[in-house]
Amino acid sequence: MMIDIHCHILPGLDDGSSSLKQSLEMAKQAIGDGIRVVAATPHTVSSAYSNPIGEIRRQVAILRETLEDMNIPLEICPGSEVRLCSRMAERILKGEITTLNDTGRYILMEFPDHGFPDDYEEEIFHLTLRGIFPVIAHPERNFIFQEQKELVHKLVNAGCLMQLTAMSITGDMGEDAANFSYYLLEHRLAHVIATDAHSDKHRKPILSKAVEIAGFVMQDRQAAQDLVTLNPQAILSGCPVKRLEPGKPKKSGFIHRW
Ligand SMILES: [Fe+2]
Repeated sequence: MMIDIHCHILPGLDDGSSSLKQSLEMAKQAIGDGIRVVAATPHTVSSAYSNPIGEIRRQVAILRETLEDMNIPLEICPGSEVRLCSRMAERILKGEITTLNDTGRYILMEFPDHGFPDDYEEEIFHLTLRGIFPVIAHPERNFIFQEQKELVHKLVNAGCLMQLTAMSITGDMGEDAANFSYYLLEHRLAHVIATDAHSDKHRKPILSKAVEIAGFVMQDRQAAQDLVTLNPQAILSGCPVKRLEPGKPKKSGFIHRW
């Protein structure tokens, strides 16, 4: 049973699903792939979308009811994908930012692609001080992280978790994203694999293929399975995630062999 903690499945709230019909198609695809729980994570606190907690809860309730009526056994949890900004802890308390499954423990956080704010480390420190831990969305697709890998090590040491995108691992997001996702897997710096699905067409809610590849990359099928089972389950329950000791790859040179 797999769990997807990053999915734009709620209709009409962002650039993800555009209709309830499409959301249902995505739900069927997720079920077909072996996914049983999805956290609905519309963009929030960005220039284009606000999506406060009330709206997200309302949309989750509608989708849950529709899925039940249609006998589609997919569980939907509330969440959001929030762009790194200032005063995050305060915004969570005000309901402007929805934590993953509304536990108040983890937020799915997207970093800007071109230049991080000067005070981002401070912002993260303030969150972790309050027991709120960022799950960094798709670091492997971020140009700054790609060029400065040490920043990922630093953020993991500061208490952040790293979420890879399934389609990066399968190579569908380009070579740079694929290579960096292998680096993060090999160095045990990845904690979750999620779909970041936006539709039932081009960016689908599919995890299985990526997990299989991750198993090869990590030389450890069970550890790869944990990235879509145990770890996301802990996150949605607001519990600590079992972290592997970051380190050198078990066997180097995976990228060349692949
Ligand atoms: Fe996303």
